[in-house]
Amino acid sequence: MTFDAKARIAQLRTEIERHNYRYYVLDDPSIPDAEFDKLFRELQALEAQHPELLIPDSPTQRVGGKPLKSFAEVQHRTPMLSLNNAFSEEEVRAFDARIREALGAAEVKYAVEPKFDGLAITLTYRDGVFVQGATRGDGNTGEDVTENLRTVRAIPLHLSEPVADVEVRGEVLMFKRDFARLNDEQRARGEKEFANPRNAAAGSLRQLDSRITASRRLSFFAYGIGLCEGAVLPARHDQQLVLLRRWGMPVAQQRRVVQGVEGLLGYYREIGAQRAGLPFDIDGVVYKVNDTALQQQLGFVSRAPRWAIAHKFPAEEAMTVLLDIEVQVGRTGALTPVARLAPVFVGGVTVTNATLHNEDEIRRKDVRIGDTVIVRRAGDVIPEVARVAVGKRPHDAREFVMPERCPVCGSHVARLADEAVWRCTGGLFCPAQRKQALLHFASRRALNVEGLGDKLVEQLVDAHLVDTPADLYKLELPALADLERMGEKSALNLLHAIEHGKRTTLARFIYALGIRNAGEATAKDLAQHFGSLDNLLAADAASLQQVRDVGPVVAQSIVDFLAEAHNREVIAQLRASGVHWPEHGQRQMTELPFSGKTFVLTGTLAAMSRDEAREKLEALGAKVSGSVSKKTDYVVAGAEAGSKLDKAQELGVVVLDEQQFMALLNE
Ligand code: IVH
Repeated sequence: MTFDAKARIAQLRTEIERHNYRYYVLDDPSIPDAEFDKLFRELQALEAQHPELLIPDSPTQRVGGKPLKSFAEVQHRTPMLSLNNAFSEEEVRAFDARIREALGAAEVKYAVEPKFDGLAITLTYRDGVFVQGATRGDGNTGEDVTENLRTVRAIPLHLSEPVADVEVRGEVLMFKRDFARLNDEQRARGEKEFANPRNAAAGSLRQLDSRITASRRLSFFAYGIGLCEGAVLPARHDQQLVLLRRWGMPVAQQRRVVQGVEGLLGYYREIGAQRAGLPFDIDGVVYKVNDTALQQQLGFVSRAPRWAIAHKFPAEEAMTVLLDIEVQVGRTGALTPVARLAPVFVGGVTVTNATLHNEDEIRRKDVRIGDTVIVRRAGDVIPEVARVAVGKRPHDAREFVMPERCPVCGSHVARLADEAVWRCTGGLFCPAQRKQALLHFASRRALNVEGLGDKLVEQLVDAHLVDTPADLYKLELPALADLERMGEKSALNLLHAIEHGKRTTLARFIYALGIRNAGEATAKDLAQHFGSLDNLLAADAASLQQVRDVGPVVAQSIVDFLAEAHNREVIAQLRASGVHWPEHGQRQMTELPFSGKTFVLTGTLAAMSRDEAREKLEALGAKVSGSVSKKTDYVVAGAEAGSKLDKAQELGVVVLDEQQFMALLNE
């Protein structure tokens, strides 16, 4: 009897997957939905009767599971890059000219695709089985959203071929019809509607409860391959997309191969004309040099490939009335004039505020209160006032005057000679700056205190429960639970999240401090270079400028920040309350054995995982990179090393086998 059930289960799984493939990849379903549901329920029933036959990649396992406490971090083995943008025909012509010049070619073939307006993700398959899915994050580190992605039916749980190890790159999005349906449901339940499909997709993917993700219909399109071992990749991008499709991945139907810049521009016009009728949102098209050998030759500039570009559709614009100009105070005290607008629908959302950037911009555009203005919104960017419809100016339109005192704390405002912005001089005395500093401290890339959002920070600061980040660690349950809209459970959750954030990294801690001009990348460089907080605290401007990419301006910002007794006090309190991170001893990184050396790891090591090898190397001061270039010092080649080994040999980079690598580590 078990034998029959087993056979039927296998048959049902194959059949259901075949229908999924027809539906999502071929866009050509062969049975009605009701028929599909029947097969699905039969499989569910059989699996319930025979739990021993249940496997994690059964199509029934797409319903979501136990909620998570938080998302784990995932280090991308090959970085997830971004694309440079072109907004005009000239910029596209310049892109093509650069490529032709670099390659010495008369004309280049390009693979062209829609630019999906969703969220970039990476999917890892081992031996053909889906094992992990992650968001892009900062390009190097993303969030593990495997459980949520399992519920997305367009993502195959296994590939049609048992490829040893492959990363599929693509975009999660929500179709327009599914977005409309979701908002209908939200409205019916009296819950908040989403502004656009992109936000709905993002909100659904970042759910700790995968059952919620399962209830939202997300879709997926693959557009590339990251690392790949155990399969020979074809030499052209268009062929790689065909391969992805054969493996079971949905890829855009609208993809083409075109010749030369006229081909690019023709495609842009063609897709522009189709845009409104497409079932999903796109915000432009992407052009990629089709030949992957030429791609390699062209390489990368910082975070984006030289061989690809996104040609964006023009930002959407709408006209409305500027009711008032208010001044907002940011984390660094910058005063930003913000236009309050009569609500207007633009680029898929209703806009009531738009940035005016700074005083000079207001003068340059001659914006006055009462004017009719053109508001512009491009993709995810904050809406801005583009220009004034001067002909519509009422006679009582008023000019804007920058206040002399901070609208929040009343301190004087000052403008440095070389800056466009006015700043409040109140520092952390200013509640607005305090609130922003706290939000920054708790943000995802800093100490990642889940649940500490603007409303709560507002309450905490206004109730004088929290003045500085260090005060977060002094919060107690009764006072917290007493806050409006809080309650015991949320208060406990918050305390847990605060506690959880205590274990961090030096780079995150430095970033969390919110030092002006010291963003995430600088914080990482500082942590790498100094290895310990005490080393950083002892640094002067000259030693700070030894750090990669730190110039006099950044160095001075750091010195100023650390010279402030108040800031030192907060740092001391944070440490005293148990915020901690692993440190590389008290030695300076410049003295570490592999400082300044770049390694690339490829293939499988017998003695340790690649992540472990990376950690060991980084602890010794090395930089571990995902791709081989002339700047690479060593390539460590484990078993079944692939194209990176070829590249290393081609460039004459030193290659170490595992034995040599272990010997080097032990030295
Ligand atoms: S390729 C190395 N292709 O655009 C190139 N990206 O600004 C990596 N995107 O994060 C990207 N559609 O989320 C590529 N057809 C497409 C795309 C696409 C949308 C997004 C992707 C990426 C962002 C880059």
